[in-house]
Amino acid sequence: LQASAKAHSNMALIKYWGKRDETLMLPHNSSFSVTLDALYTTTTVAFDAALDHDILILNGREAEEKAKLKVSRFLDIVREMAGVNIHAKVTSQNSFPTGAGLASSASGFAALACAASKAAGLDLDGKALSMLARRGSGSACRSIYGGFVEWQKGVKLDGSDSYAIPVASPEHWPLSLLIATVSDKQKKISSREGMAKTVATSPFYNSWLNTIEEDLAQAKAAVQNRDLDTLGKVAERNALRMHATMLSADPPFLYWQKGTIAVIREVESLRESGIPAYFTIDAGANVAVLCEPSHAAQIKEKLLRLREVQNVIVSGPGPGVTLL
Ligand code: PMV
Repeated sequence: LQASAKAHSNMALIKYWGKRDETLMLPHNSSFSVTLDALYTTTTVAFDAALDHDILILNGREAEEKAKLKVSRFLDIVREMAGVNIHAKVTSQNSFPTGAGLASSASGFAALACAASKAAGLDLDGKALSMLARRGSGSACRSIYGGFVEWQKGVKLDGSDSYAIPVASPEHWPLSLLIATVSDKQKKISSREGMAKTVATSPFYNSWLNTIEEDLAQAKAAVQNRDLDTLGKVAERNALRMHATMLSADPPFLYWQKGTIAVIREVESLRESGIPAYFTIDAGANVAVLCEPSHAAQIKEKLLRLREVQNVIVSGPGPGVTLL
């Protein structure tokens, strides 16, 4: 009745933005990401008949109510699948400092899906694990696999065709991703809320959806060919188009801070000086910079010189979820 798992976070190169089903976490669009070796979550789940409620310890402390509720709801799904009706103690630790503005929902729910299902006596394969992780946080379904991963949106109402598949292993292309944190403020609008507002009110939302298939095909081909210039250009335009749907929502919203623009400008000037570097931005202020490993140290130094940049974490493609 107890199991532990480790899962890595991922950075979307083609973003998931917008749900067609809020309960089953079914997306309007397919997405594509790289799993990150530097950012991970380790989680232990212990079902215990003596407990009268679920317990969540996050980074050594009892978690706040909102996080506890999300985890309890997720455990309900696992309990129902396994026919188990006892509560659990969940202990979860992130490899990165909390409050660093780094999203942990992808690694968190991927690790939780793996540990909780095993502890409840289920033996799920990658596809079933990916569909389960998706119920916690959409992007978590991609963290089941290592390297470069596609989340196929699926078309079925029950979500049975909406899961991630591995596209290329971490060893295929040891690309570097530099995660520049520019703000540790809790964002005012969660991804969940932000995408719902966008789908409901942005007149650009359908145009966003119309760009996905082509961008996805180009990004996957670029990964197969280890072509940084093509991948970088597609990732940049895809991220900017996603942010354009938020700017065009009603009321509009923007996750960027001063530091976000500072990093974008630095990436442009690196490129002008002949160093291939490209950015992508999730639903937050921080920026990830894609580059060849041979340029990572030099780019990190440049980014750290910007006043608004607090920290730079260098990552490569990482592995999929593992039971410990
Ligand atoms: O899975 P969520 O609810 O954390 O949403 C993730 C949304 C983005 O990070 C902006 C894009 C993505 O595909 O990860």
